[in-house]
Amino acid sequence: MAGITSSPFRRLCRSYGAGLLYTECISAEGVRRQGERSLVLADFHPDERPIAVQLFGHDPQQFHNASAIIAERYKPDMIDINCGCPVKRMTKRGNGGSLMKSPDLIGRIIEAAIKGSGLPVSVKLRSGYYPSEETAPEAASIAEDAGASLIAIHGRYVKHGFKSAVDLDVIGRVKTAVKRTPIVGNGDIKSTHDAEMMMKQTGCDRVMIGRAAFGRPWIFKTSGDTEFTESEPSDTEKIDILLEHYRQMLDYFPEKSAVPKMRKHIGRYTRGMRESSKLRVEAMKLSNAGDVIGLIKEFMKTI
Ligand SMILES: Cc1cc2nc3c(=O)[nH]c(=O)nc-3n(C[C@H](O)[C@H](O)[C@H](O)COP(=O)(O)O)c2cc1C
Repeated sequence: MAGITSSPFRRLCRSYGAGLLYTECISAEGVRRQGERSLVLADFHPDERPIAVQLFGHDPQQFHNASAIIAERYKPDMIDINCGCPVKRMTKRGNGGSLMKSPDLIGRIIEAAIKGSGLPVSVKLRSGYYPSEETAPEAASIAEDAGASLIAIHGRYVKHGFKSAVDLDVIGRVKTAVKRTPIVGNGDIKSTHDAEMMMKQTGCDRVMIGRAAFGRPWIFKTSGDTEFTESEPSDTEKIDILLEHYRQMLDYFPEKSAVPKMRKHIGRYTRGMRESSKLRVEAMKLSNAGDVIGLIKEFMKTI
């Protein structure tokens, strides 16, 4: 998730049992131009393997070149193609979710990324672009023929953004549209029950969790292949995890970028706790990491 799942957060998710991790989405064009801002997003720690570096763009040649650079520099386990992002500044340039209008182009991009990188290539789809045009099953079949190693499907139309309920039926249709490629279902999973329901109703092989991990990385705690534990940490334990997250961020990023990046995480970890809104407001005002950590520790004494 762009702006959220930096390397320290991904490692935290892995420590609780997350399977495959993905980087935030990265501009294929930015990588092709060797832009430092794009390249740093593709960096990861060995503990994050297996990891997919996710690229967005719209031109097969762009993906060919970018995938080659990523493979040479970072050697991730997989390259993932973003065909789901609904943000306007992406779709108006033909990137992200806009690709759901052109399943053939998705196929050509996958072929180009495989050729460029020599790595397994996966793809993340949505149901389609316009609610009247369900293109995901066709796109999945084309992706499989193009050589995709894994297909993730978020069961919502791009035009719906994050509104509307996730449609499990489309995930089922994507599963039946492919012959051998593993299908990962995605959308609104917040619990063991949701994950099991999705797998049962759609036949998907794995599930992907996004927003429910934000402020709750322990959601990945597994007891077996597909079971999650439902035991939530206590509020004190949650704050301990937040502080560990904070320390890891300070190890990885300069303080002046770690501090603002952590503000939204503080809000998430402490959501629902008494007086947490005061903590969030106060944390917004501070730019020194030591002061924020002090503030969090003071808050911890009050819960
Ligand atoms: C803030 C935010 C950033 C996101 N960034 C990405 C991204 O970079 N790449 C991607 O494939 N999906 C991205 N997503 C979508 C999620 O991966 C996921 O498909 C979607 O939120 C539905 O799943 P969920 O209900 O488990 O969150 C993002 C979602 C949010 C809320």
